[in-house]
Amino acid sequence: MKYTELKKKLGRNELCWCGSGKKYKKCHNSFDDKLGSFKCQGATIPPREIIKNQEQIQGIRESGKINIAILDYISQNIRAGITTEQIDRWVYEQTLRYNAIPATLNYEGFPKSVCTSINEQVCHGIPSPNVVLCEGDIINLDVSTIYKGYFSDSSRMFCIGEVSPEKRRLVQVTKESLNIGLEQVRPWGFLGDMGQAIHDFAKQNGYSVVREIGGHGVGLQFHEEPWVSYVSKKGTEMLMVPGMVFTIEPMINMGTDEIYINECDGWTVYTEDGQPSAQWEIQVLVTEQEYEILAY
Ligand code: MF3
Ligand code: CO
Repeated sequence: MKYTELKKKLGRNELCWCGSGKKYKKCHNSFDDKLGSFKCQGATIPPREIIKNQEQIQGIRESGKINIAILDYISQNIRAGITTEQIDRWVYEQTLRYNAIPATLNYEGFPKSVCTSINEQVCHGIPSPNVVLCEGDIINLDVSTIYKGYFSDSSRMFCIGEVSPEKRRLVQVTKESLNIGLEQVRPWGFLGDMGQAIHDFAKQNGYSVVREIGGHGVGLQFHEEPWVSYVSKKGTEMLMVPGMVFTIEPMINMGTDEIYINECDGWTVYTEDGQPSAQWEIQVLVTEQEYEILAY
């Protein structure tokens, strides 16, 4: 159904569709008017299911705090010589300690509590007792948490011991690209503003950006609309509005942007040319003014 049609159905004194318990006129009435005018101009507007109310935002915030604490714990313990299986065990134990559930565990058959992606692995690496962290490795740890039914998702890069200047720079530039992208996150802007900013920055630094895998809406489910690209164009893609929560998680490659999936495990994504790839991920909420980081 179209927003305009829905709007006619909901009286100004009826309860708002967002579940806030407030009257429509005191809640999303003017929001809907604004959305309607963007829609008339041809913008892709978000579906109502992905607009969170204050109670939901608070739940997602708490989930995000746990996600951050788990990554903080790992950052204090990660070192050369341990296996990625050990990291998985830490994530599992810490998550349960907070009465939460690792979102990746058994997600579409993924067998572990965290994704561990080393060097030329782009993402979705599976922890294993056979993979030992070595001096010079760069690794992405992607942690996602379900707490009281609310989802959070963020990832960080770790440099193991002495890492080559080339790899260190890739990790640093990828991290900086998140800030470049964040500068474009504001209500009534477009996701493509953020995508293009990240892509331009990566290219200026001599890198490429993975096209096929992107970020996503998150919060009430693990993966919600919208799909978030980092090779999109300014003024395109979905309109960003207050109450939207999504991830910014560009995968930036030192060489080609081409990738492939390991056919044996069905998950691990690699760079086609074997050159390193880096990724950082934050989870953001679009607010009335600008944004709030919910997990990093
Ligand atoms: N945090 C990852 C993402 O959103 C999780 C992917 S699903 C998994 O892309 F099963 F691979 F873990
Ligand atoms: Co994600």
